[in-house]
Amino acid sequence: MIGVGFGDLATTVAYLHAANLFKTYTLHRKRVPVLRGVSLEVAKGECVAVLGKSGSGKSTLLHLLGGLDRPDRGGAGAGKISVDGVDLASLRFRSLDRYRAQSVGFVFQLYHLLPELSVLENVTIAAMVKGGSIGASTRGRAVEMLGEFGLGDRLAHRPAELSGGERQRVALARALINTPPLLLADEPTGNLDPATGGQILDLLDAFRNRNSATMVIVTHSMDVARRADRVVRLVDGVVSTA
Ligand SMILES: Nc1ncnc2c1ncn2[C@@H]1O[C@H](COP(=O)(O)OP(=O)(O)OP(=O)(O)O)[C@@H](O)[C@H]1O
Ligand SMILES: [Mg+2]
Repeated sequence: MIGVGFGDLATTVAYLHAANLFKTYTLHRKRVPVLRGVSLEVAKGECVAVLGKSGSGKSTLLHLLGGLDRPDRGGAGAGKISVDGVDLASLRFRSLDRYRAQSVGFVFQLYHLLPELSVLENVTIAAMVKGGSIGASTRGRAVEMLGEFGLGDRLAHRPAELSGGERQRVALARALINTPPLLLADEPTGNLDPATGGQILDLLDAFRNRNSATMVIVTHSMDVARRADRVVRLVDGVVSTA
């Protein structure tokens, strides 16, 4: 691991270290280059907001950081991601599943809630994936968290019976229920009115302060960007700090 090299964080060790990431999709034999050498370092406990116009590769980057997809292979040094000293390329199958379940809370842009499960079940299932079973304390924690998120009277609803903003809050609760050291959130306030979005940001701040969590948040919102420690922009497939 190397020093992060900015400001007073220069002597700390990066918690998340991504170097020279490339990602090109191939669709109908046409190549769609998206990431062209993205490098990013995030210190433990730091919150970084990732901005960039639609289609710039923000979700793609987040998926790579969360181990949901792999960067393209390249020459020496290309495509390396490490989190808390663990090289994601060295993780396969169950160890990658374990990394995702134990270390990462992921808020998907399109929620990805399980349609046949209730709100409460959608949250507790993340704890089940991590721990194998759901005890009364997990259920209690999920009920408490959903209450804090303003969903106390929606526990038995299925995702189709929720508004977009409510689904987004369920997705956030699911991401936080295991108290992950790393939260990767893809536009967590994207479908919320400013007041509800502000409440979610307060909850995220509280979570971060309580747990010293490290966060990478993709956003178009200036409110989110203002609360972050640092803002980076994805422009033309690379990170621009300008
Ligand atoms: N599976 C795929 N196959 C082919 N092209 C893809 C695939 N996934 C994404 N893309 C393309 O890659 C580009 C980046 O997509 P991505 O979802 O990362 O953008 P984004 O910055 O998150 O955009 P938005 O702000 O709209 O969410 C887009 O142009 C998209 O069309
Ligand atoms: Mg996106």
